[in-house]
Amino acid sequence: MRVVLFGGPGSGKGTQGDLVSERYGLPRISTGDLLREAVKTGTPLGRRAEVFIKAGELVSDEIVEEMIRERIEAEDCREGYILDGFPRTIPQAEALARMDATRPEIVIGIEVRSEILVGRLSGRLVCSACQTATNTSVRTPANDVVCNLCGGRLERRTDDAPEVIRQRIKVYQEQTEPLKAYYLRKCVYREVDGEGTIDETFRRITLILDAVLGRGEERRIQR
Ligand code: AP5
Ligand code: MG
Repeated sequence: MRVVLFGGPGSGKGTQGDLVSERYGLPRISTGDLLREAVKTGTPLGRRAEVFIKAGELVSDEIVEEMIRERIEAEDCREGYILDGFPRTIPQAEALARMDATRPEIVIGIEVRSEILVGRLSGRLVCSACQTATNTSVRTPANDVVCNLCGGRLERRTDDAPEVIRQRIKVYQEQTEPLKAYYLRKCVYREVDGEGTIDETFRRITLILDAVLGRGEERRIQR
């Protein structure tokens, strides 16, 4: 199974992707994380991508398609995988359909209004070691330096600056939202309200995935 987590910047794709990955035992693949790692290590690809990321623009389809093609060939993706932040354009969706044509897929759209996205991204802190995101809204100034999970240093993402956040939301609305219609036509698109708590959103997602992956049935039998 391929699970695509779809939604605007700050909608919770990474947060939910980690929870979904843990529950269903499938790897989460985030093109944003892969690109940021390439920027950090200074690869040629990272150097090409950096300017687009900093400006809140999309990196070219060719670059991200190649990254995904390589990643989904890995052994840990044999049973399936969770995509976070890919595809983001119709050509990317078409490329994905070609590169792994027979795998069943479900696309879960996490719906959050723009004004809430801005608030979440303005307060986001990311662990420099394990990449887990947290938020100043759930932390106190005294503990907003160190990751609760691994003790790594918490940082702000360079693209979480106010003007870049605005641009990322605009790019999402113009270039990525049209994908909803594409996946609706394929009858694989489901939408969840992403404005509740992290746990509430996760529950909504698992209701869908349990039905698709047969986990609800499994648990009823075990009881
Ligand atoms: P990417 O890293 O994918 O960024 P994004 O799509 O803008 O999404 P974010 O990672 O900002 O948000 P998220 O949805 O993961 O939310 P999170 O869980 O962190 O991409 C970055 C850049 O790389 C792009 O701009 C582009 O340049 C390039 N790129 C990447 N993929 C590409 C592609 N396919 N094609 C071309 N270019 C590409 O949560 C956000 C915050 O909210 C956190 O603080 C979290 O703690 C908090 N939070 C989460 N859920 C809740 C909740 N329910 N209630 C309250 N707070 C919450
Ligand atoms: Mg993310």
